[in-house]
Amino acid sequence: MSEAVLLVGGRGTRLRPLTVTTPKPMLPTAGVPFLAHVLARARAAGIEHVVLATSYRPEVFSEHFGAGAGFGLAIDYVAETEALGTAGGIRNVSGLLTSGPDDPVVVLNGDVLSGHDIARQIAAHRAAGADATLHLTEVDDARPFGSCPTDASGRITAFLEKSPVPVSNLVNAGCYVLARRVIDAIPAGRPVSVERETFPALLAAGALVLGHVDDAYWLDIGTPAAYVRASADLVRGMAPSPALPGPPGEALVLPGAQVAPDAVIDGGTTVAATACVGAGATVSGSVLMEGSRVDAGARLSRSVLGRGASVGAGTVLDGVVVGDGAHVGAGNELVSGARVWPDAILPDRSVRFSTDEAG
Ligand code: GTP
Repeated sequence: MSEAVLLVGGRGTRLRPLTVTTPKPMLPTAGVPFLAHVLARARAAGIEHVVLATSYRPEVFSEHFGAGAGFGLAIDYVAETEALGTAGGIRNVSGLLTSGPDDPVVVLNGDVLSGHDIARQIAAHRAAGADATLHLTEVDDARPFGSCPTDASGRITAFLEKSPVPVSNLVNAGCYVLARRVIDAIPAGRPVSVERETFPALLAAGALVLGHVDDAYWLDIGTPAAYVRASADLVRGMAPSPALPGPPGEALVLPGAQVAPDAVIDGGTTVAATACVGAGATVSGSVLMEGSRVDAGARLSRSVLGRGASVGAGTVLDGVVVGDGAHVGAGNELVSGARVWPDAILPDRSVRFSTDEAG
């Protein structure tokens, strides 16, 4: 049986405050938890058994996905009592894998949105008889990633995690095919990083570690800007997902949402079933979670309203995260990078911002 390990145990600190209550892979993204897109893609690639390596808020995953029947998958869950890191998390679930020593096991980061062909990556791994085959993608700036130079045969020659001077723009894209025996050789019972320890050790030991370059859609959703973009790209169909709850388009307005007839919702915005958008408001490329509210004339772009968050009349938000239950009063203007903590209340501005005032 074809199987995969999904790494979903991280605390998602860069996405705070959204991840204070919800683990990053469970954040609503184009109307469903982000992980639903990953699971649906795994199933489409022929994977039948998935083990979720959880640590932070493990119950949120099992309560939502259960045994996996909704995806045609068998899903098992393992919770780390102390976070074991990426390789530690993989090793910790090995008792639930059924693959033989030389069989390929797919490992997916639970925070990567990728359109790459997983089945083709598995086939390349099998054909080469590799120990590990890493999906590589090309980025403009490799410094925040693991840089993976390859030789002419496609073999990875070095693994430089978050190097200030990356030697290649090909980076680790967070989807690995590992021979089962490689997983069993990871030290058990202590934190281990696949990026900083396992891959460099495999290279040092002369293992066959292949780079599988695929330049399909790829995005690591680790920051608020990336998360909101991933959601918008899914809604618009730029990132393919069998789990999108509706046809691709400019907006995903879920049944039950209340949107004023003259409000403009576009740029891949999602409006959750119990969210509400008032008269004359414009919402572009944003995520409005359950119970959130945008009052009349407010203008939101590339922003996230957490569960039950609200924005007063005429307020302008661009690239902002409003935490669960927080309220940004009327007439405010917040720009890129601002984060409003859950349940915070920003008062109304007594003098309203207007185009005339801005001069
Ligand atoms: P930041 O705190 O914002 O860096 O996010 P993160 O904690 O998710 O870390 P990172 O983005 O580096 O993690 C990459 C993937 O590995 C994500 O899918 C995480 O959920 C997962 N992950 C990170 N640390 C652990 C861990 O200790 N155990 C398990 N099981 N998964 C982990």
